[in-house]
Amino acid sequence: MTHAFQRCINPNCQATYDVRQVLCRCERCGSLLDVDYEWDKLETPSKLSYFEKFWTERYIPQRFSGVWRFHELLPFAPLEECVTVGEGQTILRESPCVANYVGKSAGTLYLQYEGLNPSGSFKDNGMAAGTTHGRLVGARQAACASTGNTSASLAMYCGATQLMKAVVFVGSGKIAFGKLSQALDYGARTIQIAGDFDDAMARVQEASQRKGIYLLNSLNPFRLEGQKTIMLRVLEALRWQAPDWIVVPGGNLGNSSSFGKAFIELHKLGLLQKIPRLAVVNAAGADTLYRLYNQEGLRWNQGQIDQTVIDAFYTQMDKENRRANTLASAIEINRPVNLTKCLRALDFCNGVVTKVTEQEIVDAKAQIAANGFGCEPASAASVAGTKKLVEEGVIDKDARVVCILTGHQLKDPNVTVAYHSGSAEEFAAKLGARGVQNAPYANNPVQVANDIEQILDLMQ
Ligand code: F0G
Repeated sequence: MTHAFQRCINPNCQATYDVRQVLCRCERCGSLLDVDYEWDKLETPSKLSYFEKFWTERYIPQRFSGVWRFHELLPFAPLEECVTVGEGQTILRESPCVANYVGKSAGTLYLQYEGLNPSGSFKDNGMAAGTTHGRLVGARQAACASTGNTSASLAMYCGATQLMKAVVFVGSGKIAFGKLSQALDYGARTIQIAGDFDDAMARVQEASQRKGIYLLNSLNPFRLEGQKTIMLRVLEALRWQAPDWIVVPGGNLGNSSSFGKAFIELHKLGLLQKIPRLAVVNAAGADTLYRLYNQEGLRWNQGQIDQTVIDAFYTQMDKENRRANTLASAIEINRPVNLTKCLRALDFCNGVVTKVTEQEIVDAKAQIAANGFGCEPASAASVAGTKKLVEEGVIDKDARVVCILTGHQLKDPNVTVAYHSGSAEEFAAKLGARGVQNAPYANNPVQVANDIEQILDLMQ
């Protein structure tokens, strides 16, 4: 007997649905859905350190999982039926050099390295939960639209578990090679649409509805349940002391939404008193949230979100033919599907939204990697955003900040090589065309003849 159900996030509606229903939006009002629980009927831990007992149960696959070892906080399926491929073996590391780069005191800047997940991004947290729900409802085929990481993750879970066949929709030429190679190699049917992520997102919703295919984008509320555990692992690594800030890149806004939900629930259950502030970082070339939040003043407003502001914004965007354009291809998104949930998270976590330029992203990426945690461009937006917010005095230099490094360095080697290669042509084509002017942290390779004396000369 599960005490889980689905609930519309619109406070005026609050329609509820069975946990086994396959929905992405409320059938009554069209709002997004949450997975919710009858907490009073469940045995919930009285403190977060309760979860430490599972450290000695790592021989049980679900307790080895960095997602399911927190099963008590996302109990929508029986533990033994929860799908895992070993996700969530991530690490939180304090980085004095990156702290220095962003203008913060030593000992106050932490990097949560989600690139360590089996498919190389944070998406595996959500996919473990999403495929678990797919299994619960007997889905045979699962689909997603993606800027690359969701598709890699879905393809991997389907390949590893053989529970469902994966079909992934991507914008043609819009995803980094590392990610495309994963979807192909894991055997997903890969549909390259002549369009961008938003086009792929629109088409996958139509296709999955018409063909009865299980949708595994972050519109799926079960996926976001898994992503809550990123925050639980951050808290665990900080010995259950909340940091002052969580800084996360914003694309489709699933991650920020799930972090907010995690904190709302932890607070409600009496497991966490202090709530960290949330900073969501857009790329300047894909800044829908930034504009809506900071320029249009859009807010959660106790669930009474002003839809006319959103509609007018998108109408204008289409009229001007303004399309997202950033080398951080993972977050090159015009219409973030989780916008309303993200507004709720920003409201609960007293959040801010900022944006960073292409130059700021690639420089931050080089600094992060030079200190040992290679990440892809979108992930570096978290560090670049922190730097900006420290400079603006929004984040105090002594505040404890956790930046989420969402994806692995090897996802997008092209940007990395263009930055470091020293080749003017490659730089101009891949970075200069995007407005990156220089590469102050480039580590240029040295060309030399195949001659030991000349090579030894370089060693001095
Ligand atoms: N960082 C990386 C590496 C991502 O792949 C994504 C999203 C984000 C940040 C943004 O997270 O959407 O939750 O705000 N990638 C999606 C995908 C859209 O299809 O892989 P978000």
